Amino acid sequence: MADDLAALQAETEAALAAAGDLRALDAVRVGVLGKSGALTGLLKGLGAVPAEERKERGAALNRLKGTLEAAIEARRVVLDEAALTARLAAERIDVSLPPRPFAPTGPEAGAIHPIARTIEELTALFGAMGFSVAEGPDIEGDWYNFGALNIPDHHPARQDHDTFYLPAGPDGRRPVLRTHTSPVQIRTMLSQEPPIRVIVPGRTYRADHDATHSPMFHQVEGLLIDRGITLGHLKGCLIDFLRAFFGISTLPVRFRSSYFPFTEPSMEVDIGWNRKTGELGAGGDWLEILGSGMVQPKVLANCGIDPREFQGFAFGMGIERITMLKHGIPDLRPFYESDVRWLRHYGTSPLSPATLHEGV
Ligand code: PHE
Repeated sequence: MADDLAALQAETEAALAAAGDLRALDAVRVGVLGKSGALTGLLKGLGAVPAEERKERGAALNRLKGTLEAAIEARRVVLDEAALTARLAAERIDVSLPPRPFAPTGPEAGAIHPIARTIEELTALFGAMGFSVAEGPDIEGDWYNFGALNIPDHHPARQDHDTFYLPAGPDGRRPVLRTHTSPVQIRTMLSQEPPIRVIVPGRTYRADHDATHSPMFHQVEGLLIDRGITLGHLKGCLIDFLRAFFGISTLPVRFRSSYFPFTEPSMEVDIGWNRKTGELGAGGDWLEILGSGMVQPKVLANCGIDPREFQGFAFGMGIERITMLKHGIPDLRPFYESDVRWLRHYGTSPLSPATLHEGV
């Protein structure tokens, strides 16, 4: 091989060995084989070579071209592999890590409080039916807690609620600790366009205290607004939910006519149980479990939704109550006493969240 070609080969091979990444490699390739690369220049100059040398020179140039292309490709494979190895090392997740010391599994283990657990279960069950979770403030305006829900001033329903009032604001009206989660119906309808599907788990307050009532307790609200919604949808949704939540596929469910200012018609929902044994699902007795109904047209209108176009249903229930029934917890008060023996007994492992897959 002519000296100039041997020199170009040696020079290129040294440059390839020095190229530390794919960009540097590409620079070497362009410098040799690119449009104005060294070897391309020699090939272009072939025409000026005397005819008797041209054939041999041409063959030598093409051999060199093949050699250098192969060398570049070989270097590319090495650099590609190095880049992948570096990325794998940087993004490495060690799935074999042992449990952290703050997640013990014996009697030292923490537990999910039964109320938090029920909220997880509600979220999983209604989530599977297309509902998302909405929230609202504990300190609520009078209009949201009552007025917009069709409970005007002096309406008798206000007296039923044993409301905690706060000092009056600049508008002269007293804010309240929300007496139910229903004000979040209003907030949701004001901030979202239908179709709407939300559940609202949260704290609620009423001035009431005995073995089955606490001044602070939890409710979950449900609200669905869409076109063509009927009582049939309400019943199907709640029957499915109650049977799944209590894990009894044949749980008897009864809808009983009732009254709420913000739904019409309104229905109380009962489930079948045995009054003597407390067992759910059979026994011929009925236990009231939640309030529900079709959203009152005035409530829709208060939120700027045209009741001729959209209908919906709403429901509300006590989270402590359904939790006590599901787990046979006899007394409400320990829910808030932070007694670790009670929490260990009724709590759930923090390492097994509620999922439909495993059954809630
Ligand atoms: N807010 C009602 C209560 O606290 C329950 C309810 C909610 C009833 C939604 C109907 C519709 O008693």
